[in-house]
Amino acid sequence: MSVTAHPTPAGTEAYEPVFTGPTLEQLGEIIARYPTKQAALLPALWMVQRARGWISDRNMAEVAEVLGLTPAYVKGVVTFYTMYHQHPVGKHFVQVCTTSPCNICGAEAVTKAFLETTGAKELGATSPDGKRTVIEVECLGACGFATPVLVDDDFIESVTPDKVPELVRKYK
Ligand code: FES
Repeated sequence: MSVTAHPTPAGTEAYEPVFTGPTLEQLGEIIARYPTKQAALLPALWMVQRARGWISDRNMAEVAEVLGLTPAYVKGVVTFYTMYHQHPVGKHFVQVCTTSPCNICGAEAVTKAFLETTGAKELGATSPDGKRTVIEVECLGACGFATPVLVDDDFIESVTPDKVPELVRKYK
């Protein structure tokens, strides 16, 4: 299915659209798998995040225009899912489960080790070298393997504080 790129949203003259050329064609192929183009919202947002590292309000407006949605609807979806970044993050995004079962098993110490090893000053902040952002998340569905950690798309089980420096080195 072909999709039409829309003009740059008003007041955003310096904005460089994500969905042009091959990217727009790729979105068209994704849309063709769904009954309506609006249903391709989640993959469209992933495409933006992969291209830009995060999803700005301007990106949301572009996605809304391309898919025939309102910017408010798109923002509602982006803000609902923690996997979408609403501000710039480090090259690697580290998510540590700190929900009660993992917390009892030492998740707090794992989180602290990530903050200390990366140099990120606090949760949600990015390390001074711009390479890593560390956040806490709710249950990752691996309660028997505390502490589970997501680094980008990699799921890592049974992380303990002593394993953190090696993990940080691995994700340069
Ligand atoms: S509570 Fe941590 S994975 Fe479920």
